[in-house]
Amino acid sequence: MVDITSEYLGLKLKNPLVPSASPLSANLDSARRLEDAGAAALVMHSLFEEKIEYENSHLERFFHQQSLGHGEAESFHPVPDDYRTYQDDYLEHLRKLKSTLDIPVIASLNGITNGGWIEYGKLLQEAGADALELNVYYLAANHEETAQEVEQRYVEILHALKGHVTIPITMKLSPHFSALVNMVRQLELAGARGVALFNRFYQPDIDLDTLRVEPKLELSTSAESLLRIRWTAILYGQTRCNIAVTGGLRTYKDVLKALFAGADVTHLCSTLLQSGPEYLGRILQQMSEWLDSNEYASISQLKGSVSQQHAIDPAAFERANYINVLDSYTHPRGVLR
Ligand SMILES: Cc1cc2nc3c(=O)[nH]c(=O)nc-3n(C[C@H](O)[C@H](O)[C@H](O)COP(=O)(O)O)c2cc1C
Repeated sequence: MVDITSEYLGLKLKNPLVPSASPLSANLDSARRLEDAGAAALVMHSLFEEKIEYENSHLERFFHQQSLGHGEAESFHPVPDDYRTYQDDYLEHLRKLKSTLDIPVIASLNGITNGGWIEYGKLLQEAGADALELNVYYLAANHEETAQEVEQRYVEILHALKGHVTIPITMKLSPHFSALVNMVRQLELAGARGVALFNRFYQPDIDLDTLRVEPKLELSTSAESLLRIRWTAILYGQTRCNIAVTGGLRTYKDVLKALFAGADVTHLCSTLLQSGPEYLGRILQQMSEWLDSNEYASISQLKGSVSQQHAIDPAAFERANYINVLDSYTHPRGVLR
């Protein structure tokens, strides 16, 4: 029997397959099906800064109008006793997940400013979250903002959240850092226990008939996993943070590659949305069979064995790889004379 256990954010996991944030966690039935299929933990869909702020300002306006005193009108619009905010619903759902599932539940906070919304981390911890994923889904698009300021934004939000919770925090990152390894080091020093590589930035498309920008959510393909696997291989051995790979892990082969590169956890989303929660069980079975037939005793035996820790000079290794890849190109017959 291959030992497929892994460890992530101090949590002992029965295997490295963890569904990432998606609508599958928003439904108790699909969450249960994921656990039944073998998921080792579950990341919840996010609690968003913007939605919290919207809800809070909505309530503030309401109470402000009440305090202005509109006499009889007040009785026509009382605050319903059972009024529940977006964040109340999220907390309640987390409690339900915790009482329904045996696997660890990682709640997800998603925002870009160092504001009051971060205090919800404490409530998530009190509601039973085993860990938190902090997703700063941010695209720097202002010419006045420097790369250093962008990095500082991540560190400050993490620092603020650390002030409210004691459970482990992992940061879901963008691939658009010019010095990712150093960025991860800064986050590690600020107290992050893990990083999730990477957010998928949804690319809006231009409709040529209406000249409107259309938001488009396309599910990923395995090709997207290679960027993540490469950075995992670069980071492995250079950080004490756990590494989770998210993006383009569609098959057991993608999962194995991420583990060989050094991932502690492999996140699945698109593949489960497309094929259903039970598909996780298929990936688990195929991964275990592969490990068995290739005579691996455990996941820790292979973890990081194809990382750049094994290249003497990682930057030179990357450069050599780059040149080899360019040299390997062959023209299709008949295209060039
Ligand atoms: C419909 C949908 C909803 C998602 N919701 C969230 C979310 O609430 N928070 C978050 O951090 N990521 C969210 N994601 C991103 C996924 O967790 C994952 O990181 C991304 O889809 C890449 O993984 P994949 O290639 O396996 O899909 C969502 C993705 C999809 C497709």
